[in-house]
Order: sequence, then structure tokens, then C-alpha cells
Amino acid sequence: MSAKDRIIDLLISKKGEIISGEEISSAIGISRTAIWKHIKSLREEGYKIESQQGRGHRLVRLTDKPLEREVQRGLTTKRLGREIHYFDVATSTNDLAKEMARKGCREGTVIITGEQTKGRGRIQRTWQSPEGGLYLSIVLRPSLALSDMTLITLLSGLAVAKALKKLYQLDVKLKWPNDLMVSDRKIGGILSEAEGEADKLRYVIVGIGVNVNTSVKTDIQTSSMAEVLGVRVSLVEIAREIIQELEKVYDGLVEGSGGLLKEYIDISHTISRKVKATCQNEVITGEAVGIDSDGGLIVRTAEGAKRKILSGDCAYIR
Ligand code: BTN
Repeated sequence: MSAKDRIIDLLISKKGEIISGEEISSAIGISRTAIWKHIKSLREEGYKIESQQGRGHRLVRLTDKPLEREVQRGLTTKRLGREIHYFDVATSTNDLAKEMARKGCREGTVIITGEQTKGRGRIQRTWQSPEGGLYLSIVLRPSLALSDMTLITLLSGLAVAKALKKLYQLDVKLKWPNDLMVSDRKIGGILSEAEGEADKLRYVIVGIGVNVNTSVKTDIQTSSMAEVLGVRVSLVEIAREIIQELEKVYDGLVEGSGGLLKEYIDISHTISRKVKATCQNEVITGEAVGIDSDGGLIVRTAEGAKRKILSGDCAYIR
């Protein structure tokens, strides 16, 4: 643990009371000058720390930046999120995660950024990523095949929905494959990308974007958690809970996906709706009637035929 981490832990343990520089210095074994330097840097990271000449320092408020030390506080996962890289600004967390995955980073490495300048959405769309949203990518190395990608994507959506429900009782539904919907408005989405051979994935990047304390306007109906809940929400708390739920889902996926798919179906926003599903150059119109064991969307056409699309997109029609 770094001296800076230890200082913040000490300040937290004092529960808002003042702690003298002398006490910090003897607990950590660094000079008063070094303490001042770390406190300045902690302030730059967004912590509100008050310092009184001759008395000491007290923590007024933790930062809401999803920094590694904050997200990991209370995180109980074994594999996911044991290494977290936070940046105030980045192009796209998926791009950074891909670079790290190629260089052999450990499984479960998480990249989070405060805003993205080149945020990417599914099907070559852009993902508006202003400050206040959550932009998180995670590197997985599952012993699964390329054909399991749809399932991984779907179940990642399930994990995020479960995290938001657990924290804020939000009734999140999933529009196939994994748009996060609240009251018929999109509040988040997932972009998963993989590299490997057909029978063995080398790595999978699961990129999660949630409109948290943002107000994003696009050509589709969108909303944000702050808009739905009427209050600002903690990015740290959400990031931590998402990582926590993702690990549970991935452990479950390795053991068999049956139960998880049922949970996905239970919160589906798409089943029973009339859809126009697009997969590469094919367009299938009909009623969404189910999700197959591989994650594919089953559509019953007007002629009564059941068709399945494994990847692509779907739009609702009347
Ligand atoms: C969608 O089109 O619904 C998927 C959006 C995924 C956005 C996230 S934000 C974090 C990660 N980095 C990206 O560039 N995209 C994903």
C-alpha cells in the first residue's frame, strides 16, 4: 500500500476528526513535507481535505472519481477488479483495455475513465461520453469459443442491471442484446469485443457505458440515473457493484448459463414485442418470442416460422 493510500485510510479511520501531522508521520514513517505533498495530490484527485495550521488534517468528503483505491474499498471479488486503471480522460476505455489485453494484462483488469473523447457504441455508432457518466471496460480471458460471445454480452447486461437494481431498486430491463432500459428509455449499453480463434477466445473486452449524472440527447429516447432518481449518484459505488455482479455472472457462466438466461429473460424488454431485427444484410420482422441458449433472439415471422439472430440489432415496430 502506498503512503498516499495509507494517509487516506488514516483520515477515514478518524471519521471526520482532525489528525495531526505528527500522528500521520509516526504511523506511516514519512516526513511532514511528504505528508503535505500527498495531501495536495489527494486534493487534486477530488478528496476534500481541510488542513489547519498547527492542528492537522481532516477528511471532509471522499472523491467521487472511481479511482482504484475507492472502487476497491469493500470489493470482495477474487479475479475481477483486482487491478483498476483510472484516467480523467481517455479516447475509449475499450481501446485502452484492448491494448492492455494484447500486452498480456491479468484477467479482470478494469479501465475506467471520467470522460471519453472517442467513445464507441455498438454497430459503429459513437457513444457520447461527457463527464458524469460511467465508462468502464474489463478484460476477460474465458475458456469459451467465439460463438459464446453473444451470451457473454447478454449476461454482462444482466450483471449491470442487477447491480443497479441492488443499489437503487431501479427497474432495469434489457433490450436485446443489451441496452439498459428504464421506463422505455436507454440509460446504458454494452460493447463487447474479442480476439481469438473460433474455438478459443484470447480475450474479451466488455465495455460498459452508463448515463449516470449526465444528460445525453441522441436520436433515440435516452435518460440517465440522475434523471430517473432525481439525485446525483455515486460513480464509485456503481463501478464497484458492477464489478461485483460481473464476477458472479462469469462464475455462473462457466458452471452453465441456464439459470442466468432465465434471469435475463425475466427482465427482457424485447420479448413479446414486434421487432425488426437486423443481422448483417438480413432483416427479419416479426414477434420476439424468446432467447435461445446461445443468446440468440428468436423471432416468429408473420408466416409462423421461427428465425434466430445471433448478432446484430433490433428495433421495435408497431
Ligand atoms: C451501445 O451502443 O449501446 C454500447 C455502448 C457502450 C459504451 C461503452 S463506454 C465504455 C466502453 N468504451 C467505449 O468506447 N464504449 C464502451
